[in-house]
Amino acid sequence: MVCPEQKVVLITGCSSGIGLKMAVMLAKDKKKRYHVIATMRDLKQKDKLVEAAGDAHGKTLSLAVLDVCSDESVKQCIDGIKDRHVDILINNAGIGLVGPVESIPIEEMKRVFETNFFGVIRMIKEVMPEMKRRRGGHIIVVSSVMGLQGVAFNDVYSASKFAMEGFCESLAIQLFKFNVTLSMIEPGPVHTEFEVKMIQDMGQKEFPGTDPDTLHSFKDLYLPTAVNIFEGYGQSPEEVARCTKKVIESSRPRFRNLTNSLYSPIVALKYADETGTLSIRTIYHMLYNLGPLLHVCATAMKYLTCGCLRRRTVSPN
Ligand SMILES: NC(=O)c1ccc[n+]([C@@H]2O[C@H](COP(=O)([O-])OP(=O)(O)OC[C@H]3O[C@@H](n4cnc5c(N)ncnc54)[C@H](OP(=O)(O)O)[C@@H]3O)[C@@H](O)[C@H]2O)c1
Repeated sequence: MVCPEQKVVLITGCSSGIGLKMAVMLAKDKKKRYHVIATMRDLKQKDKLVEAAGDAHGKTLSLAVLDVCSDESVKQCIDGIKDRHVDILINNAGIGLVGPVESIPIEEMKRVFETNFFGVIRMIKEVMPEMKRRRGGHIIVVSSVMGLQGVAFNDVYSASKFAMEGFCESLAIQLFKFNVTLSMIEPGPVHTEFEVKMIQDMGQKEFPGTDPDTLHSFKDLYLPTAVNIFEGYGQSPEEVARCTKKVIESSRPRFRNLTNSLYSPIVALKYADETGTLSIRTIYHMLYNLGPLLHVCATAMKYLTCGCLRRRTVSPN
């Protein structure tokens, strides 16, 4: 039962990771300001969420089925909400894809866009008209630092997040007129099933059609570097959930919200040199020449993230 003073928050992809933590954190808000509709593709996956929510389940947290890739599922879920009223829509559901482009079937690439790009648009199309009519609402999209800067061997995933950034940047301008806010959350690496699925996938996969040089770069340089980065510099899903709560509760929510200050210099490089040469060369050297010295690079980056760059991020604390 939603109290009139509570904000209705709908979150996609709550069976694990960031979505699960966001749902629990908002449902356990001390002031009980939110009623969270935590959605997932298959309610058989609900146990972890229900356990983490504890007493909040059935009070400030309810569950619903929603597959962002299905028009019917999205419509059914929103039709099931009283007056189709959603104050805050958090588009969190997403899937990853890594590997040499030549080895990935187009169908697999389309699945990433269907979830990460069209899935978000499907949700926004269903919820936005009511927000515009009410002249209020907040749409949050969990993007990635890879939606701002491309990373080798993440070409298609990164493209899906770039596409989302472009879509949202355009839409935010229109929504401003209707007092509807749009915010991007841009995490770096986060310790969730995402990373586990990626590592498991890589162990089982073959990479047909990939030349030996590229395969060597992927398996012997990129993968160990990626694992190191996740281990050394990854955030917890709680931290990303805390950043998102801050954005929701801000009196003037920002459009872009990097959650990990370590990544602000990488994004800053891009804005410092609009030709793109500086960022492509720097990331090339970090991967191909400095991979083994990653810890040194990261420490240097920590120092580089001085005051002005940190202000680009939203701190979880
Ligand atoms: N982990 C990272 O390093 C990282 C970094 C930057 C951004 N992100 C972004 O953060 C978001 C959440 O990822 P995560 O790290 O929390 O990974 P995760 O633990 O794998 O969670 C992804 C969630 O999305 C759900 N999902 C996948 N396809 C769906 C669909 N068609 N309809 C509805 N739900 C679907 C999954 O549900 P099922 O259980 O049904 O598969 C799962 O609940 C993603 O958008 C991701 O791109 C992650």
